[in-house]
Amino acid sequence: MASKIIAPSMLAADFGNLQRDTEMVNNSEADWFHIDVMDGHFVPNISYGMPVIQAIKKHATKPLDVHLMIEKPERYIEEFANVGADIITVHYESTVHLHRTLRQIKDAGCKAGIVLNITTPISVLEDILPECYMILLMSINPGFGGQKFENVTYQRVKKLRSMINEQELDTRIEIDGGVTDKNIEKLVEAGADTFVAGSHVFKSPNPTEAIKRLKALSNV
Ligand code: DX5
Ligand code: ZN
Repeated sequence: MASKIIAPSMLAADFGNLQRDTEMVNNSEADWFHIDVMDGHFVPNISYGMPVIQAIKKHATKPLDVHLMIEKPERYIEEFANVGADIITVHYESTVHLHRTLRQIKDAGCKAGIVLNITTPISVLEDILPECYMILLMSINPGFGGQKFENVTYQRVKKLRSMINEQELDTRIEIDGGVTDKNIEKLVEAGADTFVAGSHVFKSPNPTEAIKRLKALSNV
């Protein structure tokens, strides 16, 4: 299986100390920055946009994994690429012409991925999978950090891993929502290889150690 990736979610960082928290991630065993963009339409919450991403990019030494929770993301792909996104994922539920949007992400020089809400069947990915660098499976209802992990995720990861294997692809499976040191091993066992962690990292007394532990537990 592909090497494991830990992506701390900057949604849980201290925005008053963004440079400090960005440098903490730089100096940790984390692999990517996970950046959650919410528009108050696709999800009930509003997070942050281009200026904040630019501020993180200015100090970040690792790739930015930008998760767009916005309606019609095709309107903003180039702008997100311009402020420093390396990977852009869009929700299956947020855009009608998904194939076109994925091409747009790649044309902008980024890696492209699709996100599925918990109730969207894995089967919708069958024909579009070869176009994706990564699939992000939500393990909570998107919109807020700090929610409880939904156990249905394990069977969804297994289904997706079989589909990826059947098509002989090496697509990454990223899990987002409620990831902790209690469930990461079981997620790896099910077939996931990329992990977002917000509260678990930033609410920990020692975020660098929390990242180190997630990384160690995922490398089984
Ligand atoms: C929620 C976001 C997540 C969030 C995860 O919609 O997509 O990335 O930051 O936070 P935790 O790890 O606290 O569940
Ligand atoms: Zn996210």
